[in-house]
Amino acid sequence: MAENNSDLMSICKRRGFIWPSFELYGGVAGMYDYGPLGCALRNNIVEVWRSIYKGREGFVEIDSETVGPREAFKASGHVDEFSDYITYCKGCQAPFRADHMVKEFYENPDVLGPRELEEAFVKHGVTCPECGGELGPVEEFNLMFKTNIGPGSARVGYLRPETAQGIFVNFPNLYRYNREKLPLGVIQTGRSYRNEIAPRQGMIRMREFNQMEVELFVDPEDKDWARFHEIENEVIELVPNTGEETISITVGEAVEKGIIANRVLAYFVYTTKQLLVKLGVDPARLRFRQHLEDEMAHYAADCWDAEALLSFGWTEITGIADRGCWDLTRHAQFSGTELTHFKKFDEPREVEMEKVKAKHKALGPAFKGKAKAIATAMESMSPSDVKDGKLVIDVDGERIELTEEFFEVAMVKEKITGERVVPHVIEPSHGLDRIFYTVLEHSFDYDAEKDYAVLRLKPQVAPVKVGVFPLMEKDGLDDMARSIYDRVHSHRMEAYYDGSGTIGKRYARMDEVGTPWCITVDYDSLEDGTVTLRDRDTSEQVRIPSEKASEILGKLLDGMAFSEIGI
Ligand code: ATP
Ligand code: GLY
Repeated sequence: MAENNSDLMSICKRRGFIWPSFELYGGVAGMYDYGPLGCALRNNIVEVWRSIYKGREGFVEIDSETVGPREAFKASGHVDEFSDYITYCKGCQAPFRADHMVKEFYENPDVLGPRELEEAFVKHGVTCPECGGELGPVEEFNLMFKTNIGPGSARVGYLRPETAQGIFVNFPNLYRYNREKLPLGVIQTGRSYRNEIAPRQGMIRMREFNQMEVELFVDPEDKDWARFHEIENEVIELVPNTGEETISITVGEAVEKGIIANRVLAYFVYTTKQLLVKLGVDPARLRFRQHLEDEMAHYAADCWDAEALLSFGWTEITGIADRGCWDLTRHAQFSGTELTHFKKFDEPREVEMEKVKAKHKALGPAFKGKAKAIATAMESMSPSDVKDGKLVIDVDGERIELTEEFFEVAMVKEKITGERVVPHVIEPSHGLDRIFYTVLEHSFDYDAEKDYAVLRLKPQVAPVKVGVFPLMEKDGLDDMARSIYDRVHSHRMEAYYDGSGTIGKRYARMDEVGTPWCITVDYDSLEDGTVTLRDRDTSEQVRIPSEKASEILGKLLDGMAFSEIGI
């Protein structure tokens, strides 16, 4: 494990994984650019996520706008609720996230209110870490970046703080696309923006970051998942919000005991574990912590954080929430559009309900030729539309006010074939940059024997899969190595040709960026067509026929061991 993240960050910067953004101009806190190796690693992570959700679970993928109008974020609750507590130093004016200032004294400081935080500063003698000055009052600070859509102050907009909202506002389109059926699973990856108060933990707290979000719309009365039986006996490490320590428990038992609210949420908590471990997160440094009641986001009914143990301590990398009907209810309310699912009954049901009934005998003489249209319009209204004994209807653009002389509210029996329900949402929200960083930190190893750092990245995510070296760049060794490179290099099997320095140095260069295999062409290769294939983690070396290199590497990438391939 990296003692601290500085060794890793220096490799990342030097070898082209990530670079601080705008470094030419002094950089901007909380902003990073991905270099060539970083881009490749990040894309590989996204592909593994996609293969689980699109491939295995059959979800659909969309790509929505990153800027949205105020109305959408008012509805989502972000305009009013999406804030952290800020305090400024009274001396040097430096801003700080108030709860972070007292985190060594409280297990969950983010549940403290502004006055409690101010009292905590006094009680624990907390002062400005920059200049030792007194900390000022604690206030709310909204984390969204505000902008204008169009010239001037035409329309207030915000950069999205989560990709999720783009899926919720597209519910009618997605529901239609899914032929009006539930469950409906949708994924989206892209940028999100949060004007974090004091980003000080590298890629953990960025102001522009990447998410891989999953929104699953389910029937509120059916929170099961067809594949649950496949994972119910698997063990998972949970930290429930009842104050217990970490427990190892099967997923099935966690649901039976009411620790995880329902089977579909539990299924996706476990899917998150599968995804993270597949990407290279160390299972021994991974746990799932349930939010405390007062810690939950404004929308969440139950929420679990996948936390990884990093050099910063336990850190949230994914949040898995049961968002209930919050999002669709709010967007329906604010947009005036019904966002529901028509749930068909197995058999039609007879129900008694209050309905507006037209009094045809009174309507005929009073409205003559229009009576039929008025009766139809009235009977399409709901009893709740009756105000002070009057019903106002619109017939061919004419507003007509009717008294109880012309209608009554009566109990009637009707056969109905189904009912409209607001779907609930289960959401695994993955922070791509935090996962990226965790994968790097958990794969970082210092090889004492060789005296250099090795990234033990899983082959599927490694940016470069194979290094191809000629022993010397002469005598035709280089031509043979280049031709092997040309044959093995592809989008799936990124290869890297390196002809400079000793072979040891070249292995070290590849090990440092996590390349799982290297092929070396030597003088025997010219004689018998075989080359040396070396494994990064075992340093095992075998001779393979050069013309079989692509096929063998393909099998290794599919997860087969040297022995299973017969080499
Ligand atoms: P934290 O409490 O650490 O601020 P959060 O609870 O606000 O995180 P969520 O709102 O649940 O995070 O966001 C979902 C995921 O998005 C997180 O699990 C995290 O991986 C990622 N994420 C959130 N904020 C940031 C950020 N500023 N930089 C990088 N990733 C982030
Ligand atoms: N969509 C969950 C979050 O970003 O907070």
